[in-house]
Amino acid sequence: MEQRWGWRGPRATPKRQKISSIGQARQCCRIGLFLRRLALPFGVAAGPPLQGKSYPAAAKSRLPGRTGRGPGLLRPTKTSNPMRKVVYDQFGDEQVLAVREQPTPAIEKNQLLIEVKAVSLNPLDWKVYRGEMKLMSGSKFPKGVGIDFSGVVAQAGPGVTRFRVGDAVFGLLEVFKGGALADYVAVTEANLALKPASISFEQAAALPVTGLAALQIVDQLAAVGKGDEVLINGATGGVGMFAVQLAKRRGAQVTAVTGPAGATAAAAWGADTVLDYTRQDVAQLPQRFNTIIDLSDKLSFAAAKKLLKPRATFVSTLPSPLGLVLSFLRNLFSTKKHRILILKPTTEGLNTLATLAQDQLQIPVEKVYPLVNVRQAYQETSQGKVKGKAVVVLS
Ligand SMILES: NC(=O)c1ccc[n+]([C@@H]2O[C@H](COP(=O)([O-])OP(=O)(O)OC[C@H]3O[C@@H](n4cnc5c(N)ncnc54)[C@H](OP(=O)(O)O)[C@@H]3O)[C@@H](O)[C@H]2O)c1
Repeated sequence: MEQRWGWRGPRATPKRQKISSIGQARQCCRIGLFLRRLALPFGVAAGPPLQGKSYPAAAKSRLPGRTGRGPGLLRPTKTSNPMRKVVYDQFGDEQVLAVREQPTPAIEKNQLLIEVKAVSLNPLDWKVYRGEMKLMSGSKFPKGVGIDFSGVVAQAGPGVTRFRVGDAVFGLLEVFKGGALADYVAVTEANLALKPASISFEQAAALPVTGLAALQIVDQLAAVGKGDEVLINGATGGVGMFAVQLAKRRGAQVTAVTGPAGATAAAAWGADTVLDYTRQDVAQLPQRFNTIIDLSDKLSFAAAKKLLKPRATFVSTLPSPLGLVLSFLRNLFSTKKHRILILKPTTEGLNTLATLAQDQLQIPVEKVYPLVNVRQAYQETSQGKVKGKAVVVLS
């Protein structure tokens, strides 16, 4: 059953994109496969869904009893039990999103069933449901929304070793597939970490995508080190707020570029200098940097290059096919490198985030929406009305 809350969106099946020649079609497939492979997480969320038989409901009720905290602690779930899930049947704006009743997923032997408490909203969500990332997401419907989540383990398959029923956890689903905005998700344990008791479910849900992105950018793509001069453009967004804190922990001198309302927060996270992008044209800065991280999608490599020291790195976050090819070619011939983020979640990364969260990492959650307001949530966040992280709570 679909909850419509003022539904007026179009319902017609969208026209399939035409590809003018077989050559072009093959080329698109090849680029799509290449990009999807690049986008797949390292051996964790990456693989295809585990093959094998789903557990029948009767067997599922026996699955968890691995330790003292056995079945019965949480309300029992059956495969046929309906749950709420946000889905869409065509690309479009947030009006395509609908809360529907779906069967609660059945888990396989290496999976866990998570009762979802909170799900974070990310720009990747709307880029996917608007159809801007078809090469990575594919065009098969219905699709789910929401990548990172927090919740409680409701069931665990017999192959699960690190978690028990009742554990509070956080984690993420396949980045371009989503589906976390649901009462329950089935997930492999490699995609989970234990939620530190010191943070809320809302904060934990806000961590995985943006926290892992910041870790990958700071530690791998830019390899930020002690004394490096780092410019972070878009420093108060989801990725930026963690990138500022991580770069400071690595001993860098951080210049944070924010909107007018972001200066106090960026300074509180440790930024040495804070610039307001409405008053200062970043491209005209006299300083030169070891690393420039653009999280606003507004600074081009050409503009950033002038601000880079001779051996330095520019990191951007839009993995378009053309951008990937151009950056590959540039990097062959220049000491000023252009790295493009393609998120590769790892279990190690999730555990690092849990450790950081226990060690004073600040995780501000700006706004919390109930599931029934999911369209409003995406409308406001995608229009930049929410500064920092927003989450949807399920219960
Ligand atoms: N490729 C991947 O695998 C991957 C993974 C994760 C994220 N991403 C991408 O990374 C980007 C950042 O993600 P996010 O979650 O941090 O997004 P976000 O929360 O929307 O943050 C964007 C930031 O850009 C700032 N901004 C807007 N206009 C600006 C300008 N002219 N100059 C400087 N800053 C400006 C915003 O500041 P105000 O709010 O003050 O306007 C905001 O802080 C997104 O495009 C996202 O899709 C990519």
